[in-house]
Amino acid sequence: MLASILTVACLAVTTIASWDGNINFNSPSLQHRDLGLDVAKIQKRTGLVARQTTNFTDSQLNFTHGVASGDPYPNSVILWTRLAPSLASDRSNVTVSGTAAFYNHETEEYIRASKHKVCTQWRITSDANLTRVVDHGTAYTTSDIDFTIKVEAKKLRPFTTYYYQFTQCGTTNRSPVGRTKTSPSADQKIDKIGLAVYSCSNYPNGYFNAYGNAARKDRVDYVIHLGDYIYESSVGVQGRDARATNPSRALLTLYDYRTRIAQYRTDADLQLSHQKFAWIATWDDHEVANNGYRDGFSAMNNTEDSFLRFGGVSVDQRKMNAVRAYFEWMPIRQVNMDDNLRIWRNFQMGTLLDLTMLDTRNYDRSITDLNYNTDYIYKIHDDAGRSLMGSQQENWFYKTLISSKKRGAAWRIIGNQIVFSRINITSWFGTFENPYNEDQWDGYAKNRARTFQTLYDHDIGNNIMLAGDSHANWVSDLVWLEEHPYDSATGEGAVGVEFAGTAVTSSGFGGTIQSANNQSSSLVRDNSELQWNEGYYRGYYELQIGYDAVHASYYGMPTVATRNPLEISLANFTVVNGGNKLQRPVAGGKVESGFIKTGQVQMTNLTYNTQNQSWAVRNDFNQMFISYPRTT
Ligand SMILES: *[C@@H]1O[C@H](CO)[C@@H](O)[C@H](O)[C@H]1NC(C)=O
Ligand SMILES: *[C@@H]1O[C@H](CO)[C@@H](O)[C@H](O)[C@H]1NC(C)=O
Ligand SMILES: *[C@@H]1O[C@H](CO)[C@@H](O)[C@H](O)[C@H]1NC(C)=O
Ligand SMILES: *[C@@H]1O[C@H](CO)[C@@H](O)[C@H](O)[C@H]1NC(C)=O
Ligand SMILES: *[C@@H]1O[C@H](CO)[C@@H](O)[C@H](O)[C@H]1NC(C)=O
Ligand SMILES: *[C@@H]1O[C@H](CO)[C@@H](O)[C@H](O)[C@H]1NC(C)=O
Ligand SMILES: *[C@@H]1O[C@H](CO)[C@@H](O)[C@H](O)[C@H]1NC(C)=O
Ligand SMILES: *[C@@H]1O[C@H](CO)[C@@H](O)[C@H](O)[C@H]1NC(C)=O
Ligand SMILES: *[C@@H]1O[C@H](CO)[C@@H](O)[C@H](O)[C@H]1NC(C)=O
Ligand SMILES: *[C@@H]1O[C@H](CO)[C@@H](O)[C@H](O)[C@H]1NC(C)=O
Repeated sequence: MLASILTVACLAVTTIASWDGNINFNSPSLQHRDLGLDVAKIQKRTGLVARQTTNFTDSQLNFTHGVASGDPYPNSVILWTRLAPSLASDRSNVTVSGTAAFYNHETEEYIRASKHKVCTQWRITSDANLTRVVDHGTAYTTSDIDFTIKVEAKKLRPFTTYYYQFTQCGTTNRSPVGRTKTSPSADQKIDKIGLAVYSCSNYPNGYFNAYGNAARKDRVDYVIHLGDYIYESSVGVQGRDARATNPSRALLTLYDYRTRIAQYRTDADLQLSHQKFAWIATWDDHEVANNGYRDGFSAMNNTEDSFLRFGGVSVDQRKMNAVRAYFEWMPIRQVNMDDNLRIWRNFQMGTLLDLTMLDTRNYDRSITDLNYNTDYIYKIHDDAGRSLMGSQQENWFYKTLISSKKRGAAWRIIGNQIVFSRINITSWFGTFENPYNEDQWDGYAKNRARTFQTLYDHDIGNNIMLAGDSHANWVSDLVWLEEHPYDSATGEGAVGVEFAGTAVTSSGFGGTIQSANNQSSSLVRDNSELQWNEGYYRGYYELQIGYDAVHASYYGMPTVATRNPLEISLANFTVVNGGNKLQRPVAGGKVESGFIKTGQVQMTNLTYNTQNQSWAVRNDFNQMFISYPRTT
């Protein structure tokens, strides 16, 4: 089928009103009506006046933040862009009624939601030249949703690469061309799937080179983000520091969250990754606020005192603002409209694997370590009633594991936020009374036990747990230490492997490579199942998953203080089908950095340039992160 740009442009004239085509007018949850918009009212408002009476004209519109795609299904995928009169996010307050005037508490004046409706057309094609159109449509956007556009492209074939572009209706103003890929259908036999896995991208800390490097190498099918895609805190001074945060305060309002995500999305390497790969993302705490759980955060309580302290923003209001901005800006689906802020979901990728994305943070998590209650959390860390996921999600998770095995999927890849394995951090900064990080699975020991119980009861093997959040690399055999004997040397007694990855930019152990590796050696010594730990480098890892084996390659960025395409191969791991443990010798007995239980740390002076695909001598990088002058 051939459709030229002209035919597509013609549709603008016939304008079949497709407000519904833009998913972002919907609420992510029917239980949170405030996150949805009354489209009929917006339609009425924007239909009332002529374009020229609004505060901007069509000629000012730009595709301000590139394109993105995500949540691939066998026959459809989510496409995203933003067509707006400026880089800045919308300042109007959104209410469920979609009324026109809003009181802005910052400027203390009423501002009007724009009467301007912005029209885009999109098409998705099977060729990079955008000629063979497979699906297309028209979608409107308005200031109510920060001029974002999110549509579902359908009629696609499984595990197929597609290209897409948005066009401003009736013009030649076009977005960059994006590339995406559908998932395999559940019964399809796919030889290999590649994933790049990320977490903890802190904009002021440094450049997102890790995102760009995987895009430049182009060896994976999808990008997985395990959360902390943004950070809510404020760092640096705008105008003075290149990557100072915008806005320059901790995020609270919808405008704040929109503005912060928008700022992150100006990073060229992040834009490149979104443009080249379909993303599958879940959130951790910082998409809302530090150490979140169902009723609050480390720096905000669900109390009247806190409400007054934060200028009349409650814990729930803050969560709603964050979630709404996230759904507006991320290429994700509203999985189940009936469910309470649900982001957890499962992708059946052929008979090769199930990718199960969890929410161990915001959905229904029992109280966590909030810095002032650490000892209390340690005392209750083993309570059966404590859950990271809430009973509804837990039940779904266990059922998903069981049905994954039943349907014959070779691997279960579990995308989770926090480190799953039991990790004794006494040598690090713990005390003998409390050897664990209670904000991880260690603070919810029975939730972990119920997960293991499910795996054992149903004889489910080939489990690969993924984790982020910790800003360091932790590679472990997956073992139920309390219940089953485990041989650290051979790996016997494990039911899979955990690959926990370091941060894109957030700070790790700090200090020199030698001092960081020293810390790793203590951690590896104190934890029998922890086979490799590394906390100096920022980076990411790639998984190549085949029927026979899963290969993991960890990469470190020599520095994130500048934008550069350099990286170092840190370690490689193999898990063979049916092995249920790291293949011995672990990492081939040799890693570049950190500490390995059995084997050697061999530092090389080579670094790989992902831009021109060549090796070069590593420079002496004297600065790992962007450093900020002290502000008084
Ligand atoms: C739109 O983009 C063009 C080219 O990048 C730029 O010159 C112009 O200032 C932008 N307009 C707005 C309103 O951002
Ligand atoms: C027009 O008003 C809307 C709604 O307040 C706002 O989002 C937008 O930024 C304004 N546009 C310009 C170009 O000032
Ligand atoms: C795409 O366009 C380029 C340049 O116009 C051309 O060289 C190339 O053959 C085209 N590719 C396909 C698949 O049509
Ligand atoms: C929206 O209104 C609430 C409650 O009045 C306020 O706290 C918040 O700051 C407002 N948000 C914006 C974006 O103005
Ligand atoms: C939250 O409550 C705890 C316990 O009462 C208190 O120590 C802490 O200061 C409070 N935090 C805030 C931000 O109000
Ligand atoms: C944790 O490791 C320390 C050594 O750093 C050790 O003394 C302690 O017994 C360990 N605790 C547990 C619970 O394994
Ligand atoms: C690493 O540990 C060794 C032995 O504990 C110690 O002698 C050395 O000073 C440490 N090096 C650094 C850089 O911390
Ligand atoms: C990991 O494997 C790649 C490809 O075989 C190799 O180039 C690299 O040196 C390995 N890294 C380490 C640390 O052994
Ligand atoms: C790496 O570089 C350092 C100093 O830059 C040098 O001392 C060392 O011998 C080099 N190592 C290798 C394996 O080339
Ligand atoms: C790759 O680029 C780096 C700097 O960007 C340069 O030093 C090096 O010579 C280049 N290598 C090749 C093979 O072109």
